[in-house]
Amino acid sequence: MHRPKIIAHRGVTGQYPENTLPAFAAAIEAGADGVEFDVRLSGDGQLIVHHDDMLGRVFPGNTVLKRCTAHELRELTGGLSGAYIPLLEEVLELLERRGREGFAVNIELKADDPEFVGMEVKIAQVVKQFRYVSDVIVSSFNHHSLRTWQTAMPQTATGVLYMEHMVEPWLYAAHLGASALHPYFPTVTQDLVRECHTRGLRVHPFTVNRAADMEYMAHCGVDALFTDDVASCQKVLS
Ligand code: G3P
Ligand code: MG
Repeated sequence: MHRPKIIAHRGVTGQYPENTLPAFAAAIEAGADGVEFDVRLSGDGQLIVHHDDMLGRVFPGNTVLKRCTAHELRELTGGLSGAYIPLLEEVLELLERRGREGFAVNIELKADDPEFVGMEVKIAQVVKQFRYVSDVIVSSFNHHSLRTWQTAMPQTATGVLYMEHMVEPWLYAAHLGASALHPYFPTVTQDLVRECHTRGLRVHPFTVNRAADMEYMAHCGVDALFTDDVASCQKVLS
């Protein structure tokens, strides 16, 4: 069976909170082929790695992230495990120090707030400092943000995130100058992957957690998949 790359969605999160340094270290330990994480802005304009706009689901509290400084968020979320909301820079440092050659790094731009204007340029400035983090792909559901990113750092691969059953999404991706589709996995078919590959586009579906879906995505020929269960995925696709 074709073996897609296995990308740890928000790190490996069984023992640690998602999108934290221990979760990313655990992904490397587990032998994942890469990690995906979400970047947004704190109230003091720093690049922080967290999925939600509020605490509550991952860490206790009902604080709105953009109303706090990165330092305050670190204090609020640190706790005993040492797994706090990290800065983008800290995550890239860890991946540069510990990641293997060719380890895939997917930075998802959570550009979902008008106050986050300019985040792409800030992220590009940080990414440029980490020359040894080699296999970077930047994705977003906000395709305007992808456009801005391409201006800031044109040499980086970009992935178009989407949820719906789009018609000929490979044409849209080509129009955007993207390198990959990042579709919600139930929209993926063998034909879609074939059409993309014909045009040199990669297909990286999210978030694939059931064995039957992992097998079907591999059967369709996707290049990589995002999963919350790296260990099971390795078994299923071995
Ligand atoms: O990048 C894949 C996936 O993370 C997109 O959705 O909501 O989990 O960030 P979400
Ligand atoms: Mg994400």
